[in-house]
Amino acid sequence: MVEDFIRASRLGRWLERVFSSAPSGAGTHSDVESAYARWAPVYDWVFTAPLVFGQRAAARAANTLSGDLLEVGVGTGLSLPLYNRNLTVTGIDLSEPMLDRARERVARKHLGNVAELRAMDAADLTYADGRFDVATVMYVMTVVPDPDKVLAELERVVRPGGTVIVVNHFASRSGLFAWIERGLARFAGKLGWDPLFERETVLDNTRMTLVQEERIAPFGLFTMMVFKRDNV
Ligand SMILES: C[S@@+](CC[C@H](N)C(=O)[O-])C[C@H]1O[C@@H](n2cnc3c(N)ncnc32)[C@H](O)[C@@H]1O
Repeated sequence: MVEDFIRASRLGRWLERVFSSAPSGAGTHSDVESAYARWAPVYDWVFTAPLVFGQRAAARAANTLSGDLLEVGVGTGLSLPLYNRNLTVTGIDLSEPMLDRARERVARKHLGNVAELRAMDAADLTYADGRFDVATVMYVMTVVPDPDKVLAELERVVRPGGTVIVVNHFASRSGLFAWIERGLARFAGKLGWDPLFERETVLDNTRMTLVQEERIAPFGLFTMMVFKRDNV
């Protein structure tokens, strides 16, 4: 009965629309674009709290470096104010409505070190080999259909000796979270991410060297991995 009431309400109808259009792990680009067009107006409101810890951890790691930084899947630009001003930041995302929010943030917060925000596919970057000193990719690997291609592109566009920072949720091996994730997996399509996404999907698909791995709040649900590209 409560469920019927929620369904009939405006909020219920909106939630149903949002979730029914959320991209699956294997969603097409137009699925992703239409889903994030719907999420863009409320994204910050819903996701700031759970995602801020990973964004801060990635920015902390990036801020020990200098030069040109690429953020892949920059979304509404929640992380942009967290980067040191000595990093020149470029952000790309598939979704123009998400990028519009990021552009508004850059203007509102006077982020003069953000050089460019462009619509682009993470699996097909138009930047030259070795163009960046560091790249970050947060909460994106589970929503793209081809995480191996995204990793290969990240490796390609950072210079030899450069750094790639990945923040993501990976499947828990055991315990309460593993149990919850197995239950959630049935709804992966509607959630827009794969709760059973394996850590090995990243580790086994890159030639870069893992130099740091850290569990992130809340409750260690997310993990940050820092990779170095070989110096050759
Ligand atoms: C969960 S949001 C994360 C946004 C941001 N990284 C953050 O921390 O708030 C995932 C983002 O990835 C973007 N995205 C999904 N597939 C993409 C692709 N193939 N290329 C570029 N961006 C993509 C979406 O448009 C969305 O903005």
